[in-house]
Amino acid sequence: MAETSKKAFVTGHPIKHSRSPMIHGHWLVKHGIEGSYRAIDVAPEYFAEFLATLQANGYRGGNVTIPHKEAAFARVARRDHAADEIGAVNTLWFEDGTLWGGNTDGHGFAANLDDHAPGWASNGPAVVLGAGGASRAVIHALKERGVGDIRIVNRTLARAMELRDRFGGGVSAHPLAATGELLRDAGLLVNTTALGMQGNEGLPADPRGLPADPRGLPADPRLLPDHAVVNDIVYVPLETPLLAAARARGLKTVDGLGMLLNQAVPGFERWFGVRPKVTAELRSLIVADL
Ligand code: ATR
Repeated sequence: MAETSKKAFVTGHPIKHSRSPMIHGHWLVKHGIEGSYRAIDVAPEYFAEFLATLQANGYRGGNVTIPHKEAAFARVARRDHAADEIGAVNTLWFEDGTLWGGNTDGHGFAANLDDHAPGWASNGPAVVLGAGGASRAVIHALKERGVGDIRIVNRTLARAMELRDRFGGGVSAHPLAATGELLRDAGLLVNTTALGMQGNEGLPADPRGLPADPRGLPADPRLLPDHAVVNDIVYVPLETPLLAAARARGLKTVDGLGMLLNQAVPGFERWFGVRPKVTAELRSLIVADL
């Protein structure tokens, strides 16, 4: 690769299962860009050193994933608004020699719904299951898109309350036991928990003895109104038990793969100067690899 070629990366620990090299590699070829995007495994104790040597190593920037998203947040020189709201950084780039950190997960979430359920943001109250890092990105995006009633449901109520306090107006916090009542007039249900992920199927919604749904789903989509949209941010499997149950109930469902694909768009544009498209071709490429 020539010295002048454009270089970007994804770093995590471990990193070998990341689909990001396939996504960015596809776009590099599509746009005929002389550049590279590689996966770099960096253990937490070397992360600071890794960041400090990026520019000298010719990188324009890259993606950051588990377990480095919070460390990147603390170490970048400047952050965008989304990163500040979410409290984590997943995208790095240089501007005039300064290392910037952004967060594109919320954008990925909203763009996925735009692609597959247009009009979703004016569909009514949103119920968000889970109160971890992924939930913060989802709530940020919901607020950005003007959803006025955001109901966080979490096994550990205190974590939902923390997010409610963090995000303020229009956001409320609820225990699992309230889920059924909250679904009755909801226009959107988003699962951000790992329930339904490959390996977690059939896990009771609460191992401490309060299943939210007798079938082990994080919530019962039969309780939603007919116009509701159901989104799972998990994408392995593509059709989670929650999405299957929602589809059987006749509801519009959106899987999580589009969030992964769309969160990659702003980074590629920053490093390589072209805004790439999330196409059916790219989606099939990744689906074949799941
Ligand atoms: P992420 O960054 O992917 O969001 P996380 O911060 O570990 O991951 O959050 C995982 C979320 O899934 C949490 O909301 C967690 O609930 P708690 O806050 O009570 O731990 C939720 N979760 C995980 N396993 C669960 C289970 N068996 N039943 C209900 N919620 C579960």
